[in-house]
Amino acid sequence: MATIQTSNNPQNSASSTQLVPEVSCIPKHVAVIMDGNGRWATQRHLPRMAGHERGVAALRRVVEASVKLGVEALTVFAFSSENWRRPEDEVSFLMTLFLKALRREVRELDANKIQLRVIGDLSGLSMRLRKAVEEAEVITAANNRMVLTVAVNYGGRWDVLNAMNKALAASPDIRSLRAPMTEDDLRPYLALSNLPEPDLFIRTGGEQRMSNFMLWQLAYTELYFTDVLWPDFDADCLQAAVHSYQTRERRFGRTSGQLAQHVGSESKSRSP
Ligand code: IPE
Ligand code: IPE
Ligand code: MG
Repeated sequence: MATIQTSNNPQNSASSTQLVPEVSCIPKHVAVIMDGNGRWATQRHLPRMAGHERGVAALRRVVEASVKLGVEALTVFAFSSENWRRPEDEVSFLMTLFLKALRREVRELDANKIQLRVIGDLSGLSMRLRKAVEEAEVITAANNRMVLTVAVNYGGRWDVLNAMNKALAASPDIRSLRAPMTEDDLRPYLALSNLPEPDLFIRTGGEQRMSNFMLWQLAYTELYFTDVLWPDFDADCLQAAVHSYQTRERRFGRTSGQLAQHVGSESKSRSP
């Protein structure tokens, strides 16, 4: 069973641009862009909303399969900061679906010792939704089998700017020192700073782009794209992604020869 520590663990805050993180055969952290719900429905002459509903069922399957595999953290993109530009009825359907799914699933997540987190600009969500998010986070806070993070009203650029504003507000002297800001100054304020950076990124639905997802955290993540539409994604599809991940050599800017000698991490003082 995975026992991820979500805070105060130096390994978790290791930066892939500074240290070689511990790499294991099963990715510790998997990040997913769950794309293709609309096309799944359209192919079946159904309204797009039917695809979103089936998308929730797919997420349930993937959470279960991830726990079984021993994944420690699963982060999924549910609604981007740009998705507000969709037709109003689709946006409001998605918000209602999120609220219903949250209320329905929280007990089961808790029973399975899964910690639920929500990242993104929550100030853009309704009070009802924010309250449900807060309750679900409190109920599941002590769970340590897997951390499930749902990104809602999230954008990678928002994340970096938000972190920058928070860092400056917390230490106005960063400005007055006129010293360049470092990764270490910013990292604590970025979303998911309590988790290791994602090892494996999966995007379903055939598109090969990031769509403003975790631009900072995915710096050295292995990328996997599949044509499978999200509502059809299942345990076998996840296994295929993990299998592809296992064939990759993660070099973090080094050479193969260096990696062979490398065990664990490398001192920051040796870089660049
Ligand atoms: C992903 O599926 C879900 C959200 C973005 C909310 P889409 O709704 O983007 O499905 P496609 O890409 O139009 O098929
Ligand atoms: C990314 O999918 C966002 C989510 C899956 C929540 P989109 O469907 O919004 O991305 P684009 O518009 O195709 O890039
Ligand atoms: Mg899409």
